[in-house]
Amino acid sequence: MKILVIGSGGREHAIVRKLRRDEARAGDDRQLAIFAAPGNAGISGMAECVAIGAEDIDALLRFALTERIDLTIVGPEAPLAQGISDRFAEAGLRVFGPSQSAARIEASKSFARAQMAQACVPSPAYRVFRELDDAIAYVHAFAGPVVVKADGLAAGKGVTVAANATEAEQALRAIMAERVFGQAGDEVVIEEFLDGRELSVMAFVDANGYALMPAIEDHKQVGDGDQGPNTGGMGTYTPAYAATDTVMKSVREHVFDRMMAQWRRLGVVYRGVLFAGLMVVNGRPYVIEFNARFGDPETQLALELLDTDLLTVIDAVLADRVRELALSWSSDAALCVVLAAEGYPEAPRKGDTISGLIDTDSSFVYTLHAGTAFDGQGRTVTNGGRVLNVVARGDTIAQARARAYTVADSVVYAGKHYRTDIGARR
Ligand code: AMP
Ligand code: GLY
Repeated sequence: MKILVIGSGGREHAIVRKLRRDEARAGDDRQLAIFAAPGNAGISGMAECVAIGAEDIDALLRFALTERIDLTIVGPEAPLAQGISDRFAEAGLRVFGPSQSAARIEASKSFARAQMAQACVPSPAYRVFRELDDAIAYVHAFAGPVVVKADGLAAGKGVTVAANATEAEQALRAIMAERVFGQAGDEVVIEEFLDGRELSVMAFVDANGYALMPAIEDHKQVGDGDQGPNTGGMGTYTPAYAATDTVMKSVREHVFDRMMAQWRRLGVVYRGVLFAGLMVVNGRPYVIEFNARFGDPETQLALELLDTDLLTVIDAVLADRVRELALSWSSDAALCVVLAAEGYPEAPRKGDTISGLIDTDSSFVYTLHAGTAFDGQGRTVTNGGRVLNVVARGDTIAQARARAYTVADSVVYAGKHYRTDIGARR
């Protein structure tokens, strides 16, 4: 069987690793040829990396048809927003990832907010603006901190948590006047700032139902104690402290059940992973955003703990039978530390030589690659903002933490930085 994984991050390395783990477990019954486009230095050890960018849909489609790929798994949001799933399906190819219209829940924040409002999904108060002057007047009139968001995809940089109206105004001018995110800034969403604890809940979703994955807490700010600018995610752990039974009941009933009902009313079919980024405030979850894909670095933990065969789950989703599966999850704790590049998130530097990579592939702790590549001499170098992910599991979060940090400490490259408090706050 031939599988193509699209993307180049730690999430995609985790997907390839899980496919290989399942393959080993299946024995002679399964032989996989795995390709990654474009992949990274670490992925190249377990799959064939193909030099096609994740957004070059024409070239990806040609490759998949020529190679007769049996299944394509899409990692990042950009190709989904551009309709890769529709294109592949039209060509008769099997693809795991929602259609362009379903993925709009991530690709347009104003669309997503309107859907949530119609579905009565718990959300912060929000307003959508197309005119800069109106938006500026609104942030000056609003009592309290606000969050300013470019409507479209902005590679995780389109959101500003503004401490006051002046900061909000700066963000609005950058998006709507300077057009730093181009068309993604045609509209802005201004939201009430919710002060709480972040929680990521992903689910495998199909036309008939969904299966939740374990709840995970990501650490978004670049620095310890949640200081500094937001990033794509600096580290994760599970079980998340905020995910109490009451919170998870509300996540099922008020978030996932209501979105499923909304899609049923509208005749939208969503097949893939739905990621709810939540803020838990006073024991209640509110949706900050939906993503139409696996989270990064949430997936690194979810797939580490998933005992069920991933291809079985994907087959079930594509056949609209996911709710018939009883997914099996390890009850271990797991934790992931992201090692970032000099200058991340503002202006990550590339090309720093990495050493001290211990080739541990113990089942307790190992390193996944994200922004890495080989240089002309075959050395592994940094090649993106988030460089490596150390993943560990343990009986407790404390044990997983200790294991992860031992490996994180031993990696060496110029400008390496990481948070030292992943999973530390109860
Ligand atoms: P988003 O891209 O919408 O997930 O926003 C990125 C990050 O900004 C989130 O993970 C939160 O840390 C923060 N954020 C976004 N919206 C809000 C909000 N309404 N209240 C508080 N924090 C928010
Ligand atoms: N870790 C958050 C995301 O994948 O968007």
